[in-house]
Amino acid sequence: VAPSLAECEAHDAADPLAEFRDRFALPEGIIYLDGNSLGALPRATAGHLTRVVEAEWGTGLVRSWNEAEWIDAPRRVGAKIARLIGADSDEVLVADSTSVNLYKLLRAALSADPARHTILTEPGNFPTDLYIAKGIAADDPGVRVHTVPREALVDAAGPGTVVLLTHVHYRTGERFDMAAVNSVVRGRGGIVVWDLSHSVGAVDLDLAAARTELAVGSGYKYLNGGPGAPAFVYVARDLQARLRSPLTGWLSHAQPFAFSDDYVPAPGLDRFQCGTPPILSLAALECGVDLYLEADMALVAAKGQALCDLFLERVERLCTGLELVTPRDPQARGSHISFRHPHAYAVMQALIARGVIGDFREPEVIRFGFAPLYNSFTDAWRAAEVLAEVLASRAWDDSAFQVRSRVT
Ligand SMILES: Cc1ncc(COP(=O)(O)O)c(C=O)c1O
Repeated sequence: VAPSLAECEAHDAADPLAEFRDRFALPEGIIYLDGNSLGALPRATAGHLTRVVEAEWGTGLVRSWNEAEWIDAPRRVGAKIARLIGADSDEVLVADSTSVNLYKLLRAALSADPARHTILTEPGNFPTDLYIAKGIAADDPGVRVHTVPREALVDAAGPGTVVLLTHVHYRTGERFDMAAVNSVVRGRGGIVVWDLSHSVGAVDLDLAAARTELAVGSGYKYLNGGPGAPAFVYVARDLQARLRSPLTGWLSHAQPFAFSDDYVPAPGLDRFQCGTPPILSLAALECGVDLYLEADMALVAAKGQALCDLFLERVERLCTGLELVTPRDPQARGSHISFRHPHAYAVMQALIARGVIGDFREPEVIRFGFAPLYNSFTDAWRAAEVLAEVLASRAWDDSAFQVRSRVT
């Protein structure tokens, strides 16, 4: 039996993570289920950014590179993210965007071994992953991109393969068994690059236990780093000295301030930096990451699963005309639930007009992300009610809801 509203309120009252909700500046009356696209604003961020801007930039000026430790921010925030994903502090660096980091890691993995010439990925992977891989192949006649459906994917891996996978699929929410994929691909002589954009801050990750070698992830989704927050790159320590970044900017140099004409890569992960880090964006990201450091990641992951379960159960009980595209098994999915509906875009617009913010993805998918730090059981309960009302009343069938914006 699906829980009642009173039972959801009791769940919220007993939730050890409930206190985190108040640490976010969420608007009244909004049920925000799009933290898998753009995370909510932590309350601490605005004040911290004001301090960084006024005191560190305004007063400290260029001295702040040392005095405010700006130069260490990519490694410092990286080390904090490492704690969330089961990595060591010298294995994660914050830099650039997810797309740029994918480029760096794919190129580095390919050029580390002359026998490697194929990027193996799945059709329907996130577009930037596919486009970056195809762009590399377009620039280098020696590289080809091979897409194989996930059922057959690991069996297609071999010694010449760099496998590129998104751990939690952006549209369907399906989750790979990271340790199992790593093990099969490694056994076949290949290497895996994981995109953790929909995993970090949402599901339990233990990169060391899974023997993950290479990964990237987003800073602005569940990590709540703000629009366009820099991303992170993970390189297992053993590999760091063997990989070279293709973007040999000055901050990837062993001694950037020697201003030498000759390039020598930094000995460790710093070789995956490129240019000057975006300090203001890093400051915002650090506020988002710091909140996670106060939470128990096992509780975070378990709550994400419970919220998804509750929402799914209620939607299936109350709604007709939706086709579930996310696995029912919590172990086989991330922290969002997606449904197909022939008028998905308009349905989502009608929901947003009622204060329930999720998003739409082609083809005809509505997506509801549950961010365990700020979403509650009553959010999940109420969102299902509103969805049921929109579907039953055909409220979506209004010309105002059919017009597509540039960002969908
Ligand atoms: C799986 C995945 N990878 C990458 C990206 C985007 O990367 P970038 O931050 O470079 O735009 C997204 C954005 O939604 C994503 O879902």
